[in-house]
Amino acid sequence: MHTSDALLALDNLSVTYGHVRAVDGVSLTVGHGEVVALLGANGAGKSSLLRAISGTGGERNGSVLLQGESLLDGARYRVARRGVAHAMEGRRIIGPLTVADNLLLAAHASQRNERRAVPGRLDEVFSYFPKLYERRAQHAGLLSGGEQQMLAIGRAIVSRPDLLLLDEPSMGLAPIVIEEIYELLRSREGTLASCGILLSEQSAALALGVSERAYVLARGRIVFDGRADELDKEKVAAAYLNN
Ligand SMILES: Nc1ncnc2c1ncn2[C@@H]1O[C@H](COP(=O)(O)OP(=O)(O)OP(=O)(O)O)[C@@H](O)[C@H]1O
Ligand SMILES: [Mg+2]
Repeated sequence: MHTSDALLALDNLSVTYGHVRAVDGVSLTVGHGEVVALLGANGAGKSSLLRAISGTGGERNGSVLLQGESLLDGARYRVARRGVAHAMEGRRIIGPLTVADNLLLAAHASQRNERRAVPGRLDEVFSYFPKLYERRAQHAGLLSGGEQQMLAIGRAIVSRPDLLLLDEPSMGLAPIVIEEIYELLRSREGTLASCGILLSEQSAALALGVSERAYVLARGRIVFDGRADELDKEKVAAAYLNN
């Protein structure tokens, strides 16, 4: 793909925290409506890369273009309004608010749609995750880990993003919950059908099952990339060992 046609194009992106260089000269693209996996071992730089796109951590150098426009200038809080949703590692939900209010807040914060459309967006999330509907009036802090991850993904969906950043959605969850979340990613219904997704996972098998292409990170650099169905599993394993 030519980078000017891409939904997201990173060019020579580096992310540093003081003297620590977590991402080192990464270039990658995500097409419109494309699902791309970002694989790598613990500490490879996946979360740092996603945070650099959403402007939520680290010092950034290089270029981050969303539909041809830089995400590096302008106020950091504006990225949601520009169409980027980030379901972060560690599920940033607002514990003292109810499940429904967490979703409403995310829908309104994005300011991307008319207010009238907001109830329908909550219904979309509740149709994917019926447990969230059952618990809609409960404080989010009381949810199980799996339900909190569903809520974090739900908050991203209600903002109707063009680009969805998912950081290790399977982390710490029971297999049955992982299956529920990945089933949704596989089905690509509703909002998920039209947005591009950059999905970070340590588990290559999980992420490759729902992705069209993948990049493998080790020590902050892309060591190789390719079509998800053609990626050499042994090379992926070797990249993890060399991290
Ligand atoms: N806030 C921070 N301050 C300093 N160093 C950091 C910070 N966040 C991450 N790092 C360092 O940057 C490197 C990449 O970490 P990062 O969390 O991006 O990796 P990751 O691939 O997401 O790992 P994991 O799979 O464990 O989530 C690591 O060496 C980590 O220690
Ligand atoms: Mg991480």
